[in-house]
Amino acid sequence: MSRKIWVFDTTLRDGEQVPGAKLNLYEKVEIAQQLKKLGVNIIEAGFPASSQGDFDAVKAVAQKVGNTSDIMITALARAVKEDIDSVYNAVKYAENPMIHMVLGTSDIHVEKKFSKSKDQILQIGVDAVKYAKTLLPQVQYSTEDASRSDFEYLWKTIEAVMKAGATMINVPDTVGFAEPEQWGELIYRLNDRMKNLDDSVLLSVHCHNDLGMATANTLAAIKNGADKVECTVNGIGERAGNAALEEVVMALKTRGDIYDVFTDINTKEIMNTSRLVSSFMGLDVQVNKAITGDNAFAHSSGIHQDGLLKSRDAYEIVHPEDVGLDDMELVLTARSGRHAVKDSLSKLGFKDFADEEFEGIFEGFLKLADSKKEVYNHDLYVIVENYYEKAEKNNPNKESYSNQFFELVDLQVVSNATFPSASVKIQRGEEIYKSSAVGSGPIDALYSAIADTTGIEVKLIEYNISSVSRGQEALGKVKITVEHEGEKYIAKAADTDILKASALAYINVINSIVVAQIQPQKVEVKVTV
Ligand code: KIV
Ligand code: ZN
Repeated sequence: MSRKIWVFDTTLRDGEQVPGAKLNLYEKVEIAQQLKKLGVNIIEAGFPASSQGDFDAVKAVAQKVGNTSDIMITALARAVKEDIDSVYNAVKYAENPMIHMVLGTSDIHVEKKFSKSKDQILQIGVDAVKYAKTLLPQVQYSTEDASRSDFEYLWKTIEAVMKAGATMINVPDTVGFAEPEQWGELIYRLNDRMKNLDDSVLLSVHCHNDLGMATANTLAAIKNGADKVECTVNGIGERAGNAALEEVVMALKTRGDIYDVFTDINTKEIMNTSRLVSSFMGLDVQVNKAITGDNAFAHSSGIHQDGLLKSRDAYEIVHPEDVGLDDMELVLTARSGRHAVKDSLSKLGFKDFADEEFEGIFEGFLKLADSKKEVYNHDLYVIVENYYEKAEKNNPNKESYSNQFFELVDLQVVSNATFPSASVKIQRGEEIYKSSAVGSGPIDALYSAIADTTGIEVKLIEYNISSVSRGQEALGKVKITVEHEGEKYIAKAADTDILKASALAYINVINSIVVAQIQPQKVEVKVTV
C-alpha cells in the first residue's frame, strides 16, 4: 500500500536565513496561511531565540495558522534551555505544537565547534530532549551534519534521544555533502534500526543543495525508508539552498511507478505559493528552475512546439495545470515553426488561409521575430493585416484591428526626490496621445502617464526588473503582472534603457487586454508569458 510522506516546510526558517530575505510578522503569517493551503504537514516558522521580532512572528503563526489540528507548528532551538523555552513560549498557542532542536554529531562539530567530547555532547542532547518533553509531547531532534558523522556515533545519539522521548528524528545533510546512493544507504541502515527500536518515531531528512543534489538526495532517502522530508519553496535556504518542495513533491507524483508514496500537498497551489514567497522575500526564481521557473512550461523550439501541438505528452511530463498554471506556453520566437504560428493565429480566429497566404504571413512573422525577442498576439494581428494590405488582397477578416493597439512613440522620465514625473507619447492607429503625470517614483509616474493615454484601468500586481550585461551594455528585462476585470495578464519587454523596457512591458500588457476584448471567446489564454 502507498505510504504517506510527511512534508515539513522550513521556508520561514532555513529559507529566511537567505541574506536580505527577512520577513515581517504580517508577511510570515501570510506565507504560513498559503503553506497551509498548499497542504504541508508541519511549518517551521522561525528561530524565536534569535530576536524578539522572530519570536513574535512565530507566536503569530502559531495563533493564526496553527489554530486547527491538521497542521503542526514548530520552530528551531539549539539544545539549550533558553532556546527551548523560547520555542515553547512561541509555539504553545498552536493546536499541534512541536519543539525542534538541533545539535551536531560530526567530529567537526563536536570537537571544533563545541570543543567537547562525544559523550558530553550526547548527554547535552539527551538532557535537552528530556527537558523539552516536560513542555510538549512532540519533540524533533536534528543530528546536524549527519552526512559527515561517524555512523555508530550517529546511531548512538539517535537511539539515546529516542529513548529520552524524541518523536521525530531529522537527519540533515547540513553542508550538501551527501551523494544519493551513499545517502540512501545511510538512511536505509538508520531506518532499519529505528523501526526496530520504536516504529512510531518518524525518520526525516533535511538536504542542502551545495552540490546541486538536494532533491536527488531527498528522493533517495524516501526510497530507503524516510517518512518525512524537510523542504523549502523554490529551494531557497542557507547558501545554495534546501531541497525544493515543488521538485520533491512533483517527482513523487510524476514517478509514482518508482516511489509508490503520497503527500498531502495540493499541487495546484504550488505556483501561488512560489510567487508569494518570491515576491515577499525579494528572491527571483531562476527562469529555468524546475516546476516554478518562468520557463518550466514554456516551449520555444519549433520542433517541440510542433510535437506538443500534435500530442502534449511528446514534450510534457508534468501538466502545468497540476501546479496551478493556466496552460503550457508556446512562446512565439524566430525559432517557432509554421505549426505553432498557425495554431496561435487560429486561436485568434485567423483560419482557413490558402497556402500562399499563410506563407506570406509566416514570412512577415519571421521578419518581426528576427527583430523582436518574442512575438505577441497583438503583433499577429498587425502581421496579418499588413500582409493583406501589401498583397492588395481582400482581408477575409473584414474588420481591421491593428489600429486598436497602442505603440510607444516617445517618453521622458524625470527622477528626483520631490516630483518624479513622466511624459509619454503613444500612438493608436492614426491617433497620437500625449500625457504627463507625477508619481511616487519614476515608474509609478510613467505608468500613470501611460494609463491616462490608454484609458484601460489595471491594477499593477507585480513589477520585476532584472539585468543582463554584455560588456558595457546592460539590458534591462522587465516583467509585469496586472489585473484587469478579475483576470491576470503578464507581459515582458527588454531594452538597454530600463525605463523604455518598463514602458514597453506595460504597453504589451495593455495590448494583451485589447486582444482579449476584441475576441474574448477566441483567446483562450490571457496570460501571455
Ligand atoms: O541544515 C541543517 O542542519 C539545519 C538544521 C537546523 C536542521 O538547518
Ligand atoms: Zn538547513
